[in-house]
Amino acid sequence: MNRLVIKNLTKRFNNVWAVKDLNLTLQPGEIFVLLGPNGAGKTTTLKLIAGLLHPDEGEIFIQGIDVQREPIEAKSRIGYIPDEPFIYRKLTGREFMNFIAGIYNVKREDHQKKMEELFQKFEIGDWIDEFSESYSHGMKQKVVMCQLFLHDPDLILIDEPLVGLDPKSGKTVRETFLELKEQGKTLFICTHTLSFAREIASRIGIINCGELKFMGNLEELAHLSGKKDIEEIYLKLSEESTV
Ligand SMILES: Nc1ncnc2c1ncn2[C@@H]1O[C@H](COP(=O)(O)OP(=O)(O)OP(=O)(O)O)[C@@H](O)[C@H]1O
Ligand SMILES: [Mg+2]
Repeated sequence: MNRLVIKNLTKRFNNVWAVKDLNLTLQPGEIFVLLGPNGAGKTTTLKLIAGLLHPDEGEIFIQGIDVQREPIEAKSRIGYIPDEPFIYRKLTGREFMNFIAGIYNVKREDHQKKMEELFQKFEIGDWIDEFSESYSHGMKQKVVMCQLFLHDPDLILIDEPLVGLDPKSGKTVRETFLELKEQGKTLFICTHTLSFAREIASRIGIINCGELKFMGNLEELAHLSGKKDIEEIYLKLSEESTV
C-alpha cells in the first residue's frame, strides 16, 4: 500500500499560496527530499501532512487513512520533527522522552532499553538528566531525533534535520536514515543541505512559490538540467521554476 498519498493539496495564507495543487505519492522504503528557496512552502507541506494545519483544498492519506477524517489514527503512524526542536524547558531530556513514549502508549519496559541504545548511538551524555533549558540547539535536536524511534512510525517527516548538529552527529543521522529506509520506512525530509540530499534521496522534489516544479531521482534531474553537480542542478532548476 502507498505510504503517503497527497491529492490536489492547497493552502493559502491571506493572499500567499503556500502550497498550490500538490500531488505526491510515496512508497515504503523511499526517502523523498524536498528542496526549495526560503518561503517556498516546504514547512507548510510537512505541517499539513502532520495534521498541524488544515488544507484549503485537497486530501492527504497516510497508509490509506485520511488525515482530516481520522487525525489521531493518522498521527499515530507518523513521526514528525519540526524545524525548531521543542522540549519543555523544565523537563529533562529523559523526562521528555518518557512523556512522548506515554503519549504514544509505548510500554515503559519496551522503551527504557531502546532509550539507552539511542543515547549511545547519538552520543548523548549525562546532560540528558538536566533541564532542557540548558541545552544547545544541537543537543535539543539530538533528543527530538531519538524521540522519533520510540513508537516506531512508518512515515517520518523531518524539517531540516542537520541544523545545529556537529559533523559526526550529522553522519549518524545520515546512516540512521539509510537504515530506516532499509527497514522499509518512508522518510520525507526538507532541507537546504544539498550534499545530504545527494547522499540519501531516492527522489528529490523542487518546490517554489508553493508549486512542485520538478521531481525525480538525481539522474533524472541531472538530465533535465544538463548539469551534474547537485548544487548546479538545484540552482538551474530553481531558477527555471521562478520564470
Ligand atoms: N502561519 C503563517 N501565516 C502566514 N503566512 C505563513 C504562515 N506560515 C507560512 N506562511 C507563508 O507561507 C509561505 C511558505 O512558508 P514555509 O514556511 O512553508 O516555507 P519554507 O519553504 O519552509 O521556507 P524556509 O526554507 O525558509 O524554511 C511563505 O510565504 C510564508 O510567509
Ligand atoms: Mg521551512
